[in-house]
Amino acid sequence: MANISFQVSVFAFCTSISLLLMATQSQGHLGFDKHVPLFFFGDSYFDAGNNNYINTTLRANYWPYGDTFFKYPTGRFSDGRLISDFIAEYAELPLIPPYLQPGSHQFTYGANFASAGAGALVETSQGLVIDLHSQLSYFKSVKRLLRQKLGDEEAKALLSRAVYLFSVGGNDYIFPFQTNSSVLRSYSHEEFVGLVIANITAVIKEIYREGGRNFGFLGLDPLGCLPYARAIVQGESGACLEKITPYVKLHNKAISKLLQKLESELKGFRYSLSQIYEFLMERINHPSKYGFEEGKAACCGSGPYGGIYSCGGKREVKEYDLCHNASEYVFFDSGHPTERVFQQFAKQFWSGTSNSTTSYNLKALFET
Ligand SMILES: *[C@@H]1O[C@H](CO)[C@@H](O)[C@H](O)[C@H]1NC(C)=O
Ligand SMILES: *[C@@H]1O[C@H](CO)[C@@H](O)[C@H](O)[C@H]1NC(C)=O
Ligand SMILES: *[C@@H]1O[C@H](CO)[C@@H](O)[C@H](O)[C@H]1NC(C)=O
Ligand SMILES: *[C@@H]1O[C@H](CO)[C@@H](O)[C@H](O)[C@H]1NC(C)=O
Ligand SMILES: *[C@@H]1O[C@H](CO)[C@@H](O)[C@H](O)[C@H]1NC(C)=O
Repeated sequence: MANISFQVSVFAFCTSISLLLMATQSQGHLGFDKHVPLFFFGDSYFDAGNNNYINTTLRANYWPYGDTFFKYPTGRFSDGRLISDFIAEYAELPLIPPYLQPGSHQFTYGANFASAGAGALVETSQGLVIDLHSQLSYFKSVKRLLRQKLGDEEAKALLSRAVYLFSVGGNDYIFPFQTNSSVLRSYSHEEFVGLVIANITAVIKEIYREGGRNFGFLGLDPLGCLPYARAIVQGESGACLEKITPYVKLHNKAISKLLQKLESELKGFRYSLSQIYEFLMERINHPSKYGFEEGKAACCGSGPYGGIYSCGGKREVKEYDLCHNASEYVFFDSGHPTERVFQQFAKQFWSGTSNSTTSYNLKALFET
């Protein structure tokens, strides 16, 4: 189990937006225009650098993270922008800085609470991340600030037209595998997925109670076919780690059912669900069809398929390889896609009409 400690960090996604962008944000009109704010919750697929400001090893604030786009390591677990960054761009908002980034925040464009490695269960990467419930309490602080600044009416209108985006759940399933937790033996697949979904449900309902109406969800990606997982099953010629797949499939079905149920129960509730599973499997198995050279191995890392979590050499394993051009790869490190994949996916999430996006696409949620 020598792999445990670095595998734990696989889903750590995650830093700081430039001063320039903060300056842009502070010129906002305090919500008097009708832009739609964005609030991000969840894990590394959205975390723009919150983990830089907590005591954790789950960080990506060193080279070569960020090198393709930002030219410096922001804390994002990729070579460049994340899904959350592209969505903000398509919504014609400035990049939303990490909530914990020091300095003054307006919050009229929203906030990013996501934390690399976080899950819906408190136990997931406990002590190393901002779990979903803590992210929710940060959101409540933001709501108080907005009410002070804008008054009750204006704040209510802002939060009601805002879009609340979630990328969460993956770490809840990866973490017990990494830590050989007894939780996997004490619950059936269905029961364990039920726990995760129940926690997500509680958080959605709480945001609804606080005035949120528009929700966007990412389904889980093929967690067993990421480079870290292939490294675990090495010797079997890089097969996927199939033991985790039943959880992923059950979760993706359950989240879809949950959102349909909430839509029928809660007045004014609208959602967009985008399933990333097939989208990523396609690129993993047929990279050239989508303009990639390599679908299975990570651009940055070591060991089989670059699946050892060593990108940047700042964790336990100091030696790592780095590819010449991250844009030719589906995966940047052992657990995270490249900016190019995130961009392709964000486009589909935004305007997709296929069966990958149900109910509304994201764009429709912004056109209130
Ligand atoms: C950060 O966490 C490490 C490991 O848990 C601990 O040893 C250290 O004292 C912590 N540092 C601070 C400033 O809390
Ligand atoms: C959320 O998960 C925790 C375990 O982390 C569990 O104790 C709790 O009951 C769950 N909450 C809900 C609403 O299901
Ligand atoms: C996981 O834990 C079980 C029970 O504690 C033990 O029997 C098993 O050997 C462990 N597996 C690994 C890979 O450490
Ligand atoms: C990197 O790869 C992308 C995708 O194939 C290509 O468009 C780009 O020109 C390459 N960049 C360099 C510097 O070769
Ligand atoms: C749904 O997705 C599958 C697999 O990607 C595809 O074969 C099928 O044509 C799609 N159906 C619709 C209605 O778009």
